[in-house]
Amino acid sequence: MDLAVVGTGYVGLVTGAVLSYIGHNVTCIDIDKAKVDQLISGKSPIYEPGLEDLMAICSENKRLNFTSDYACVKTADVVFITVGTPSLANGGVDLSHLKGAATEIGRNLDNDRLQIVINKSTVPVGSGNWVEMLVSQGIQNGSKAVAAAVTGEHEILNGTTRAMIQTKHKFVVVSNPEFLREGSAVYDSFFPDRIVIGTCDKQAQEMMRELYSPLLEQSFAPPSFLMSSDQRANSVPLVITDLASAEMIKYAANAFLATKISFANEIAGICESVGADVTEVMRGVGLDHRIGKGFLNAGVGWGGSCFAKDLSALVATAEEYHLSPSILSAARQVNLQQRRVAIKKLQTSLKIIKGRTVGLLGLAFKPNTDDVRDAPSLDIAEQIINLGAMVKAYDPVAEESCRRARPDLDINYCPSIDEVAFGSDALIIVTEWEEFRSIKLSRLKELMRTPVIIDGRNIFDPETVRQAGFEYHGIGKG
Ligand SMILES: NC(=O)c1ccc[n+]([C@@H]2O[C@H](COP(=O)([O-])OP(=O)(O)OC[C@H]3O[C@@H](n4cnc5c(N)ncnc54)[C@H](O)[C@@H]3O)[C@@H](O)[C@H]2O)c1
Repeated sequence: MDLAVVGTGYVGLVTGAVLSYIGHNVTCIDIDKAKVDQLISGKSPIYEPGLEDLMAICSENKRLNFTSDYACVKTADVVFITVGTPSLANGGVDLSHLKGAATEIGRNLDNDRLQIVINKSTVPVGSGNWVEMLVSQGIQNGSKAVAAAVTGEHEILNGTTRAMIQTKHKFVVVSNPEFLREGSAVYDSFFPDRIVIGTCDKQAQEMMRELYSPLLEQSFAPPSFLMSSDQRANSVPLVITDLASAEMIKYAANAFLATKISFANEIAGICESVGADVTEVMRGVGLDHRIGKGFLNAGVGWGGSCFAKDLSALVATAEEYHLSPSILSAARQVNLQQRRVAIKKLQTSLKIIKGRTVGLLGLAFKPNTDDVRDAPSLDIAEQIINLGAMVKAYDPVAEESCRRARPDLDINYCPSIDEVAFGSDALIIVTEWEEFRSIKLSRLKELMRTPVIIDGRNIFDPETVRQAGFEYHGIGKG
């Protein structure tokens, strides 16, 4: 199929590349011209394992193109919307990018044949209907402009022409939420747990099945650089439902994952008081197949571009309907408190924070990504700076994005673990990068002013660290 993907961020770029790899002709559109130029030169603007390799294969096959021009929408069978939907200050969702994309798609659709407009951005329930309205308006505006150009009229169309334009719309809006995880986005897109399609239109359902059939049937040959897929399922479940339910599935899934982590963090606090070890506790809990092992790691809390904004959006939607979603609100609250836990441990250990040097290991909100949106590191760094200490930090890939996101934060960025450790009074593990797990503790101890480790991700064995001569504080390690 011919596909257009509007928005080349974490979701759009990965989706475009994977769909191109499995055989579609994909054109990715972005209004950020600098980003488009970078993509045309074969470079990915984001750090995502395997993505540049995948882009190289697709561009060799000449099935992946990049542009800022929406003209390609006219020939596309399917148009994906993958623009950002950030939070507003009031917790609602900023839908301005979605509006811009939907209107521009409408202005450029063919409108003489069935085309599918897929909303892959995470949007509040009902947004599919809103997108439909915006695309229709875009079509009418586009047609008005064409008619005006033909007739020489600029403002008014006669009733018959307007009616013709309005009844001719043939596009269908489908919700197709995305569940990829940053850091393993390419893998997740080739081997998804499920594909969700929200539309009641039978023809659109068939087109969606056809679009995704290599993924649904797992019939493609994976790129060689992907991890061995021995445990690859024979097929991927397809959930076909209505638009509103598909939109809710995405929010409910993210709310559940965020709540699971907040639950583990709340239990961690109790473990510390009663002398239990949260890692052991959650292992025992997660082995129950009704609960599952994932997302039960206690630490300095969740971050990233999705959990906070999606929880806030879901709370805002519930409140619009006069509901009080207490579990969702508590999950957010626990997460905010959790970011202060590392600071409390620092104060317990060092007593006076003013004039100290504190090293942060990790800035990205999780390993294998350079994304620092709503990363705990930013909050932790800010709190320590406000308490009068100097903050040094090292991250294998996220330094640049951190500098860009928070130029106001006076962080002393370092090129290595050793340089962060040198002269530090304490080190806080903020992101569980693989590199940190194999740190040479003896070397670290030589470099630090006082040997204090606050393990915000519970990556170390406490006894090993203590035996190496450190004061060790994990999370929930009573
Ligand atoms: N990042 C994730 O892990 C993830 C996972 C699942 C779902 N989502 C959802 O997917 C959506 C996209 O997220 P993202 O992280 O990829 O966003 P992003 O901010 O990384 O990328 C969005 C891109 O859209 C472009 N854009 C904005 N307006 C445009 C327009 N009118 N026309 C063309 N391009 C435009 C921007 O320039 C940017 O490149 C969000 O709704 C998000 O909640 C994200």
